Amino acid sequence: ARTVPFHGSRQAGITTPAQDSLVFAALDVTTRRAGDLADVLQRWSAAAATMTTGVPVGGPGGLGGAADEPPQDTGEAHELPAANLTVTLGYGPSLFDERFGLADRRPAALEELPALPGEQLDPTKTGGDLCLQACADDPQVAFHAVRNLVRIGRGTVRVRWMQLGFGRTSTTAAAQPTPRNLMGFKDGTANLRAEDTADLDQHVWVGGEGAPAADQDWMRGGTYLVARRIRMLIEAWDRASLGEQERVIGRAKETGAPLSGTREFDALDLAATVHGKPAIDVAAHVRLAAPETNGGVKMLRRGYSYTDGLDLATGQLDAGLFFIVFGNDPHRQFVPVQRRLGSQDALTEYLKHTGSGIFACPPGTGEGGAWGEGLLS
Ligand code: HEM
Repeated sequence: ARTVPFHGSRQAGITTPAQDSLVFAALDVTTRRAGDLADVLQRWSAAAATMTTGVPVGGPGGLGGAADEPPQDTGEAHELPAANLTVTLGYGPSLFDERFGLADRRPAALEELPALPGEQLDPTKTGGDLCLQACADDPQVAFHAVRNLVRIGRGTVRVRWMQLGFGRTSTTAAAQPTPRNLMGFKDGTANLRAEDTADLDQHVWVGGEGAPAADQDWMRGGTYLVARRIRMLIEAWDRASLGEQERVIGRAKETGAPLSGTREFDALDLAATVHGKPAIDVAAHVRLAAPETNGGVKMLRRGYSYTDGLDLATGQLDAGLFFIVFGNDPHRQFVPVQRRLGSQDALTEYLKHTGSGIFACPPGTGEGGAWGEGLLS
């Protein structure tokens, strides 16, 4: 019960119904030996496959062992349910530099993101050779997974930055109710869903039906992850009137209905007017982000709310959205949409992008298979 299989043709944690908690880690590889990296990825897959069934690293006896050695598993998830744990791996563009001889295996889409409007990136929350996205319905289970993988990788990889998320801000399955983000609005209403298989093939999976052809065989069936740590200027938002908040988003706060309709799942009517003015403002977030106004671009959003407590420099809350989005061509999906949002979206006044990363998430591995296959071996 409440387990998500680790093995499969796709990695788990992408179209899996979004769990409640996130632990996201970006890591750098500290060795120049590709074989050591392949070894860690193999050990990570075995550990992740074990942990996702609710069993400790090293098997049922992983907490015990020799009295003069550290136990194989750190122990804090013992006797907790698996809580739908998923662990998703991604490769950053920097992994394909000269160190591991992978330069000609880098897919064209895995390019560093360009500078974008509305960002003030903190280098200590940006980039990474690898990423691990652990999601679970129990924060301790998600933390345990990343902690144990980091421990297994010691001497070969080190954490570059990390983000904890609570409260999913997206819906990725039809049966899930729409959650709310820290601005108090329903988030995920118009998202892609696991059930939208034709759209996922076209917009999310690399080499899928209707998608551009894969330029690297090892990425076929994978996808790209873009992460953005988006701080909300909560104090300013909380002083904005209800009318202003709804104009900025383009939806009603209580119901989540577009301002051109009455129910949450009513389609946006971008031509609708009220007293001669557009019902959905020209600068509203949903208008500027919608596929209809972006040449049909669709993305799978899978973000989490975050807070890192108080920003001591300003005395304001450091909180917002850890935005995660999946797509098969981020430079034609996320980048142009964000460029537009960053310069025209009324929401931008209340946001600051402070962290960023782009990663190639390879396809899933079969039973007995391991991460790194196809790329490193
Ligand atoms: C829709 C909030 C950042 C893309 C929405 C909705 C809300 C929202 C409340 C309406 C409900 C829904 O359909 O999910 C936010 C907040 C953000 C943020 C608070 C930052 C803190 C972004 C970014 C992108 C994005 C960075 C992409 C670059 C979208 C898209 C939609 C959407 C594609 C669906 C539009 C539609 O088809 O109706 N967002 N968003 N959002 N957002 Fe955002």
